[in-house]
Amino acid sequence: MEDERLVSSQLKREDVENEWHIRPAMLSEYIGQEQVKSNIAVFVQAALMRGEALDHVLLYGPPGLGKTTLANIIAAELNSNIRTTSGPALERPGDLAAIITSLSPRDILFIDEIHRLNRAVEEVLYPAMEDYCLDIILGKGPSARTLRLDLPPFTLIGATTRAGMLTAPLRDRFGVICRLEYYGEEELLQIVYRTAKLFAVPLEEAGAREICRRSRGTPRIANRLLRRLRDFAEVRGNGTVDEAVAQDGLKMLEVDALGLDITDRKVMLSVLQKYSGGPVGLDTIAASISESADTIEDICEPYLIQLGFILRTPRGRIATPAAYRYFGMTPPADTPASAYAQGGLFADLTDDREKA
Ligand code: ADE
Repeated sequence: MEDERLVSSQLKREDVENEWHIRPAMLSEYIGQEQVKSNIAVFVQAALMRGEALDHVLLYGPPGLGKTTLANIIAAELNSNIRTTSGPALERPGDLAAIITSLSPRDILFIDEIHRLNRAVEEVLYPAMEDYCLDIILGKGPSARTLRLDLPPFTLIGATTRAGMLTAPLRDRFGVICRLEYYGEEELLQIVYRTAKLFAVPLEEAGAREICRRSRGTPRIANRLLRRLRDFAEVRGNGTVDEAVAQDGLKMLEVDALGLDITDRKVMLSVLQKYSGGPVGLDTIAASISESADTIEDICEPYLIQLGFILRTPRGRIATPAAYRYFGMTPPADTPASAYAQGGLFADLTDDREKA
């Protein structure tokens, strides 16, 4: 199911192949995220001037915004090697120990989806991050001993879509914490022009703008829509991605004016129609549309929240009047969202997930 979603911000095999060619290699080529970029430039330069390892970096934000790209850029700017792994791939402490003991001084260890590390592996990471050492337990029971191994100074870069799922001790060990934001239309425009040039796709401004408006602020989606529209342009048109190709193609791809696809619309319509605007729990929504709660929470919801269509409350998700209107419905006079906004109903409570 997920693989078929065009506007999924998750990485697909096709993206891996394509992104390899189009990823910016240095900070100067990376478009957008100005605050993050300028901070990172300073920290990188300071580490280089002192000849030290850069402090550990946590990159968080919705999928497809360039966390992996940024990790590779940081390594390149530091002239360091980067070793890449992910939370789920590190099943046992030994898996992490094997990688971490093979690092050279000032190398980068990149752990994607770091919120999915298991507790035992995470505990090995604490002394590694804090004191550059590894505590290995030899034997079992009363005769067990700990052996302490020194590690070279290294930099851990962790990436996550869910900073709120990191434990406090892990989060506290990152000296640099950067949140990536959705991109604005002008930034996305620069990104698709850059990609079109690399792929030698003729792209007109009106076509490019249409792509950017419907890419939910996400470069990975913009680049994917560009590739699909290039197909339409080559097969049905004259090879140029212009306004007509973009509009017709995006209609065929069922990506609407705001970049919502079928799954996003199902989520919204479930809250609006099946649950009278909410409040309704995430798992209930997921079950009602046969979609995984993780997909909804990681991909659909952040953008629906950004659009102001959904609010997360302690009692569940609620639809806003704007969502009713977008789907051609009249918001009832007393939507749960309006009660929420006026400080009624749930205003005394805060949502734990939201705080994160
Ligand atoms: N491709 C994907 N994301 C990008 C970015 N932020 N800058 C330049 N090219 C990109």
